[in-house]
Amino acid sequence: MQSEERTLLEVPEPDVIRDWATENGILILAHSYQDGFLQEAAHFVGDSLELARKAASAGADAICFAGVHFMAETAKILCPDARVFVPDMDAGCSLADACDANDLIRYQEHLTNKLGQRPVTIAYVNCTAAVKAACDIICTSGNARQVVESVPEDQPILFVPDKHLGGWLNETLGRDMILWNGACEVHELFSVETLNVMKAENPGSIVLSHPECPKPVRDASDHILGTAGMLNMVKAAKGETFLIGTEANLIYRFEKEAPQNTYLPAPGASCACNLCPYMALNTPEKLWKCLHERGPEVTVAAEHMEPARKSLQRMLDVVVPA
Ligand code: 13P
Ligand code: SF4
Repeated sequence: MQSEERTLLEVPEPDVIRDWATENGILILAHSYQDGFLQEAAHFVGDSLELARKAASAGADAICFAGVHFMAETAKILCPDARVFVPDMDAGCSLADACDANDLIRYQEHLTNKLGQRPVTIAYVNCTAAVKAACDIICTSGNARQVVESVPEDQPILFVPDKHLGGWLNETLGRDMILWNGACEVHELFSVETLNVMKAENPGSIVLSHPECPKPVRDASDHILGTAGMLNMVKAAKGETFLIGTEANLIYRFEKEAPQNTYLPAPGASCACNLCPYMALNTPEKLWKCLHERGPEVTVAAEHMEPARKSLQRMLDVVVPA
């Protein structure tokens, strides 16, 4: 067996992978929904917003993105001179799949005729580059409220693709945005009945849920937060028990950065795991192979690059980092 093949079969420890990537000029970014090994191997772990900012500011020549496809596309749009690699090209997202760019453009035209003015389109970052190019401004779970509030109240807004995040924004901000009918297949599985049982079994526990959760689950929660907002809350807490209504790998990060608390994954309708099947396609083996082979490589169609960058830049301009 060739020595290069043998090296690829033996996946080293996460810190060895990270050092190898550093020596070879590749920045590893990982979303907090990746499993603990991939988080440890990364140079930087974050939520969608932090990862977008990191990609925009890092000035890297090459990025390996352990996350899902739309996140790697976002990195490519914000850092166009970098080559962007992903461990698995099939790591998609049910929200991104729910909104086809051509359908969106047709619906925008329909609404413009119906309303007599073009609605402002806000797209949650969980969408394709083509959808980013067709919208006016992007938001993430970490800044959605500020982005919506940046649009004058008399302007009609079309919000895509997440009906649950959009519904939560309408409720809490008193808006009447028109919502696209998309949902995250992971967060849709959380069950309010089993959550209520778990709350009863853990008196005094604090329920944190992601705004991608359906309304009955949000209503049974103490706080609705994106993944970075949850991390800030648990870091500030002292010895609490948290029931976590989002992808269960986030708990790895909580236990590492805020070990003083207890974390229990909120249950799904039929299981207690709530792991994103797309994030799970990225494995240590695929990461190691991707770094060596510098691929698969994510590309964005030339005609989408500039309009999508403008939509992302508007978001970054609205929300000044803390
Ligand atoms: P965050 O924006 O909170 O990182 O969430 C990303 C995501 O995919 C949620 O399902
Ligand atoms: Fe997409 Fe849901 Fe997975 Fe997040 S958890 S990447 S929204 S499928």
